[in-house]
Amino acid sequence: MNSRYFTIGFWLTSAAVVAALFPSGCSRTLGGPGKAPEALPPEEVLDFNTLFNQNCAGCHGAEGKGAAAITLHNPVYLAIASDDVIRQVASRGVPGTPMTAFAKSAGGQLTNRQIDVIVGGIRSWARPDQFTGVSLPPYKADTPGNPHSGAAVYVKFCASCHGANGEGGPKASAIVAGSYLALVSDQNLRTIVIAGWPSINAPDWRGDVPDNPLSPQQISDVVAWLVAQRPQFPGQPYPSRPDEKL
Ligand code: HEC
Ligand code: HEC
Repeated sequence: MNSRYFTIGFWLTSAAVVAALFPSGCSRTLGGPGKAPEALPPEEVLDFNTLFNQNCAGCHGAEGKGAAAITLHNPVYLAIASDDVIRQVASRGVPGTPMTAFAKSAGGQLTNRQIDVIVGGIRSWARPDQFTGVSLPPYKADTPGNPHSGAAVYVKFCASCHGANGEGGPKASAIVAGSYLALVSDQNLRTIVIAGWPSINAPDWRGDVPDNPLSPQQISDVVAWLVAQRPQFPGQPYPSRPDEKL
């Protein structure tokens, strides 16, 4: 703590005022409401950058450019995910993963209007002109995946980076670890396979093997193969859901 903060702290007599000026990094990382710099009542904050920084950037990175959780600032992601998808996930969260619900109606802290501001701001990162004439895989699987075919898809498209069996290789980390698969949804695995993760150099569905984009069926199959690696009783001795006590 530097001397400036110490001096300010000295003159503040109310602990509540201190808390308002220095919202804890922890509550922000975990998606708490935080406070606007101008100390507006939290529900009246309608500036996208403020809302995103306070609620989303802790996991999705500054400007959505990806950190612990998927890059949202990704034209491929925004070409496949509709506003409804983004609104639904931001409002209700993804059960069993660190992505919690933000809408007041689902126990979070944000009004529907604030969620709309966030959805609109994320949408402003889209670049639809980059996809004219590109055949995009569907966001949700329209055909069920086959894990046996997926094993072959894995060898052809993924093993060069993630290792022969997904345990990690020279260019990318393990993706079959139980601790990873236990806390990620099937859809998010699919989203990452299609949209990649530009901020950490994970290719999109066109880039795994040059000039050989994965077909929608191959995407469903390789995701089914990954899902089949998920332990039946995930994460033990860790909690099997983020909100469950040990
Ligand atoms: C505590 C970390 C954390 C915070 C804070 C957080 N997210 Fe997430 N988010 C995640 C994780 C992890 C996933 C992947 C969940 C899964 O496995 O489906 C995710 C997934 C998403 C997805 C869906 C990606 C897909 O597959 O389509 C969207 C959209 C999203 N988050 C938006 C937001 C928005 C908007 C905020 C802020 C209001 C936010 N997130 C805050 C961790 C977080
Ligand atoms: C050219 C190398 C390369 C290829 C090919 C590749 N990936 Fe990746 N992938 C990466 C990198 C780099 C990352 C991000 C950093 C890391 O996990 O090491 C990543 C991340 C991921 C993640 C997210 C892991 C996490 O920690 O959240 C998943 C899931 C994934 N890849 C699945 C696949 C699948 C399935 C395939 C084949 C269809 C594939 N990848 C092909 C390089 C590659």
